[in-house]
Amino acid sequence: MSNVVIVGAQWGDEGKGKVVDIYTENATEVVRYQGGNNAGHTLVIGEETTVLHLIPSGILHPGKRCLIGNGVVLDPKVFLEEISKLKAKGVLEDDRQLVVDGNVHIIMPYHVAIDKAREAASSRKIGTTGRGIGPTYEDKIGRRGIRLADLVRPDVFARRVKELLPEKNQILSFLGAPPLDEQEILDEYNEYGSLLQTYLGHVGLTIDRAIKNGENVLFEGAQGTLLDIDHGTYPFVTSSNCIAGGACTGAGVGPGTIDEVIGITKAYLTRVGEGPFPTELDDDNGKHMAEVGHEFGSTTGRPRRCGWLDIVALKEAVRLNGMTGIALTKLDVLTGLPTLKVCTGYSYRGELLETFPRDLDVLQECQPVYEVLEGWNDNIADAKSIDDLPPVVRTYLDKVAEWAACPIVLVSVGPRRDQTIQLKNPFGA
Ligand code: GDP
Ligand code: IMO
Ligand code: MG
Repeated sequence: MSNVVIVGAQWGDEGKGKVVDIYTENATEVVRYQGGNNAGHTLVIGEETTVLHLIPSGILHPGKRCLIGNGVVLDPKVFLEEISKLKAKGVLEDDRQLVVDGNVHIIMPYHVAIDKAREAASSRKIGTTGRGIGPTYEDKIGRRGIRLADLVRPDVFARRVKELLPEKNQILSFLGAPPLDEQEILDEYNEYGSLLQTYLGHVGLTIDRAIKNGENVLFEGAQGTLLDIDHGTYPFVTSSNCIAGGACTGAGVGPGTIDEVIGITKAYLTRVGEGPFPTELDDDNGKHMAEVGHEFGSTTGRPRRCGWLDIVALKEAVRLNGMTGIALTKLDVLTGLPTLKVCTGYSYRGELLETFPRDLDVLQECQPVYEVLEGWNDNIADAKSIDDLPPVVRTYLDKVAEWAACPIVLVSVGPRRDQTIQLKNPFGA
């Protein structure tokens, strides 16, 4: 019996969705624990692509329960649309497959409006997804939030909106955005409230019962370690704890529940939005990664910035998450590059740094120090086992594991479910 956390080890979009889909085979419950529909997790099964923003990436496995923990912020409209799309595909036949915790905070129209208006007005843009994530977490921490348990009670909900909206409209007016109408919000959200009743539950208790029943639980992180509100490249981060510790607070389980933490990393590095990125490329190698890797955001469609794999950042992720294994994705994208660079240190004012600097000004000035490895031209997209990979590719993998001081447990060589090599199963199966 094992409970496993999947966490992004970079700036998001590492392929968490794909890996969660693969590991769901070993689990009974799959739990999202933070973030909201700023996430876009892509699953490719055969020729069919599914992008999920809120619903856990285990949903394509019939009979597995998908839970949305208290740490998530939920846009009801997006959630209900996602359900409709899945049902149209013949997925989610039984509504009991999906449970949302009553303590999730609801993304309100004013959160989305404030997020967009702040970005538009700001001289230091974060490059948010504009989904209202930051303002919703602000209200949660400020104890002004509306939870799912409030939304499903029309009288409580109406009272909360009446109390909150005047202040929100003042903020919108300050930011140069139009005010929102109370009755319109109530009409729209009361409808959502009644539809969401079906999914309302207690995720922490559900997980506890599952574990006592001998079942395995898989926790699905969103975003990535370097976007973590406390440990990422602040302020160019998201507004939640994306690291593995977030699974405990965001799902309602104790730290002792977690047996394995698998950090997902691409064989290179990408970032969407603003902020420092020491190994960012502005050359043909970067173009190759963007084109071959189709590096466009799954949520906003924005081009992702691309760069070489950064071991300094990866070691930070190993430390912060207590990673017990690496799942290395998009290895196939490196095929065709004559030489590969991997950043193993930073040069800062003549000094060699081997740990990730906390000070953003320092990070902005860091120059990557690279190890150069031989590239390959072999098509590796059909490799089914480690033995199918040429020695030069295995050398690359060995070096990454050695430098990061963490074993590689899974290698992904294409977007499809079947383009995966598992070296060690974290569930022990
Ligand atoms: P997530 O947010 O971490 O779930 O990642 P995204 O879904 O936003 O982005 C990862 C993208 O890479 C998706 O389009 C996946 O289909 C794709 N992908 C995942 N693994 C691989 C891989 O090994 N090779 C290639 N070429 N694409 C992959
Ligand atoms: P998944 O789960 C990549 C980035 C945004 C922006 C910053 C803050 O698919 O890996 P926010 O809207 O959260 O306030 O934006 O965080 N960001 C992501 N980047 N993948 C994600 O999710 C992201 N979610 C947020 O681009 O820089
Ligand atoms: Mg994504």
